[in-house]
Formats: sequence, C-alpha cells, structure tokens
Amino acid sequence: MRIRVLGSAAGGGFPQWNCNCRNCSGLRRGTLRAQSRTQSSIAVAGTDPAAWALVNASPDILAQLRANPQLQGARAARDTAIAGIVLVDAQIDHTAGLFMLRESPRPLAVWCTDAVAADLTCGNPVFGVLGHYCGIERRPLPLTGEEFAVAGVAGVRWRALTVASKPPPYSPHRGAPVPGDNVALVLTDAASGRSAVYAPGLGAIEPPLWAALESAACVLVDGTFWSDEEMIAQGLSPKRARDMGHLPQSGAGGMLEWLAQLPRATRRILIHVNNTNPILDEDSPERAELARAGVEVACDGLEIAL
Ligand code: MLT
Ligand code: MN
Ligand code: ZN
Repeated sequence: MRIRVLGSAAGGGFPQWNCNCRNCSGLRRGTLRAQSRTQSSIAVAGTDPAAWALVNASPDILAQLRANPQLQGARAARDTAIAGIVLVDAQIDHTAGLFMLRESPRPLAVWCTDAVAADLTCGNPVFGVLGHYCGIERRPLPLTGEEFAVAGVAGVRWRALTVASKPPPYSPHRGAPVPGDNVALVLTDAASGRSAVYAPGLGAIEPPLWAALESAACVLVDGTFWSDEEMIAQGLSPKRARDMGHLPQSGAGGMLEWLAQLPRATRRILIHVNNTNPILDEDSPERAELARAGVEVACDGLEIAL
C-alpha cells in the first residue's frame, strides 16, 4: 500500500490568499524557512500502481493532479488513475474539488457517510449539481467498524471510525454534530497487515480511535492548530481550535501528549496544518519540540509505503 500526500494544509492552504499572518507573509517574502502547501487530500494505491483512491477532493485538486502525474493513467484519450473517491467529511476543503472532476465520462464513485451525503445534497448541494455533469454514484461508508473496499483499488482494506469533530459551517446541524459528520480512516495493507490511520479532523481521541492508533504502523493526524487560542491570539478569528472540532497539539490533553503514548516504532505525522500554525516555520521552537518528540509535519508529495 502506498499513501501519497497530495495536500498537507488545512482549509485556505499555505499561504492563504488573503492572509498576512507571520507565516503567510514570511513565506511570500522569502524571510521564513517553510514550504507552501495545498489543501487537505491524500491518495492511496494498493497492488495496482495505476489505481488510486482519492481521499478528499481538495479545492486544489487540479494543481495536485499536475504535481502527481501517476494519478493520470494515460491509457486512453480521456483517462484517470483515480478509481474512487472517499470523503472523511463534507467540509469545503475536502469536497470543493469534486466540481473540478465534472468532465469524467463516468459517474464519480464516492464513498461517504449518510451525514456527509445529506450535507452534500442539502446544505451544499454538490451531488445535485454534479448530476448535471458526470453524476455521482454514492457508496455507503459503514460506521459500524466493518471493513469496506474501494472498488478498483485491490490490496487495501478500509475501515471508518466516527470521530468527535464538527460538520461544516454551512451544515444545517453545525451546532449539533451527529455520528458520521467526520470519520477517521484505517487503511490496512492486505498482504502485510500493516495499517495507517488518517484523521485530518479530530476534536477528541475516543477509545475506538485510540485502539486503531495504537496498532497502526503510521498515523496521519489532525495538525491544524498548535494552540487552542492560536487564531484569537493572532487577531485573525474569534474561533478556538476546539470550537472548530480540532484538537490542538500543545497543552494538557493535546495531540502531542497522545502521540507520546504510542508505541516507539509508530510513525507520527501531523497533517491538515493551518497556515497560522508555528510548526510550519522550520526554525520555530515548536518545530524543534516536534523533532525532539519524533513527530513529523506532512508536506505535499510525501509518500508512505506500508
Ligand atoms: C475545518 O477543517 O475546520 C474546515 O475545513 C475549516 C474551513 O472550512 O475553512
Ligand atoms: Mn478542513
Ligand atoms: Zn496565514
């Protein structure tokens, strides 16, 4: 199984178009040692190197496909190596890219939960709009912990775990989350049995998820914010990380405390990193703290083989 990080930033990307925070302006001016990043997505391949599952459809998908030519099968006049699409939630940064795939000659096969399908039908009617182009063939994403397969991507077993987070701001039930608004994905290589957990939006770590994290060879977890009040402290937004359904890295009960309890051999990677997060500055004390803790920061193009 191969996991390729297409986009490692949170919503807005890095730098964000209208942002002049220390990170975004430093990157633009060339005064900060940091890498630009596109919005949140990974691709997963099993035994067939030319068949990928796209996990989340980022607003930056066209740039991501250009940067990752293995996702263009090039076997026919119109082709793609994307066999199916899996969504972890209905947030804009994970779904706006679906519109960019409208030229598909076949309906897009999309695995998502009922809650996500409802938001993409009502609050933000992407599925209905795409019905006027390529169409969507929606496949259920079971919340009972049972395994599912993404048709066309052989050699990978998938499981979804409900996670505590938030539905998108446009969702009719933003203030009252339901199971299935957000999931973590457990990806297991069928041959080796080694697994990875992908959870870009994570408000809390509950026992079923913790069990999956403990038995994974690699975890790719919510790296959105370093601190709960990060955007407030920078004068950018009144929202706390936890209000947005993201567990901050630092502080009591934060992501770093959890990651420190994983087995020594586990590869720990933060993904879905917001542009305000000081870990993006490769010279920051926060980044040095991650290095001491053996925690990596995902970058676009990172590939993990399990
Ligand atoms: C999130 O992860 O909280 C959202 O993607 C935020 C957003 O839509 O900008
Ligand atoms: Mn997001
Ligand atoms: Zn910024």
